[in-house]
Amino acid sequence: MTEFEMEDIAAALVAPSKGILAADESTGTIKKRFDSINVESTEESRRDYREMLFTAEGVSDYISGVILYDETLRQKAKDGRPLAEVLSSQGIIPGIKVDMGAKPLAGAEGELVTEGLDGLRERLAEYYELGARFAKWRAVISISDSAPSQYCIEANAHALARYAALCQEANIVPIVEPEVLMDGDHTIDDCYAVTETALKAVFDELYKQRVVLEQMLLKPNMVISGTTCPEQADAEEVAHKTVYCFEQTVPAAVPGIVFLSGGQSEAQATEHLNIMNELGSHPWELSYSFGRALQASALTTWAGKEENVAAAQQAFIHRCKLTSAARDGEYGTHMETAS
Ligand code: 13P
Repeated sequence: MTEFEMEDIAAALVAPSKGILAADESTGTIKKRFDSINVESTEESRRDYREMLFTAEGVSDYISGVILYDETLRQKAKDGRPLAEVLSSQGIIPGIKVDMGAKPLAGAEGELVTEGLDGLRERLAEYYELGARFAKWRAVISISDSAPSQYCIEANAHALARYAALCQEANIVPIVEPEVLMDGDHTIDDCYAVTETALKAVFDELYKQRVVLEQMLLKPNMVISGTTCPEQADAEEVAHKTVYCFEQTVPAAVPGIVFLSGGQSEAQATEHLNIMNELGSHPWELSYSFGRALQASALTTWAGKEENVAAAQQAFIHRCKLTSAARDGEYGTHMETAS
């Protein structure tokens, strides 16, 4: 693959009307999701659930790429085809989560740093062989009275840039994800300040470590009120402050920004994305890389039962359609109830 092909992959991931499905929940996280619907998390139930999503009719109209977990990239569908092939045969690009999770940051009580750089070059080479053409690494930054420290922001930015440089060496498009968490009672302006500082640190490190901006995507949080903040900013304020924050920090050479949903409801995340796209043309594509905000309805409709698969696939496609409309600035809340 040439460097131009990496640019083509990045562009394809943020093509009009399309975005990314984040289905890369770690074994611990998917267990939590399955616990919420009283389904035992086994290798088979995880495979069945993900196969259900990947084979929903029409999914490739809305989903450009899927981020997989290591286990899923190695799994086969019931018909014996690798799940990665189930995706690529529909024109959907397989991606892979390559970080090894956020662990306590030494010397910074309560703060986290993402691990997974050791052996990453070798793992990326294998993932490429298995069909992955893009990757994800998530850094976690929390807001509290004492956090984040500049130390935490810089340690995470450094690791994100090391990961991104290794991906590009392996001809894999890196998705760089510094997530400022919604948890807490902080205001939207607190979130703005932390997000701006974190993005400045991330792009500084990406520059120092020679990451090619045209061959990556950014996966950030939206600028939004803390979940328990008594004064919740409305959707217009979220959209305006988020776009303004990126105008200050994200170079125009970055082809696309694909949001995480971060615990927002499906409708909230969709409305915010829609307003941002309605605001007009931006230097970068503004699209989605939602996990929960694309899967929540499908998961509860499925409830682990074979007889619910068709209804769950319908719920999933409905959600994809609305999110895709928002990516184009053509969503309306009335569409939530339309069939
Ligand atoms: P959510 O959209 O559920 O936040 O998941 C996206 C993701 O991949 C987080 O790393």
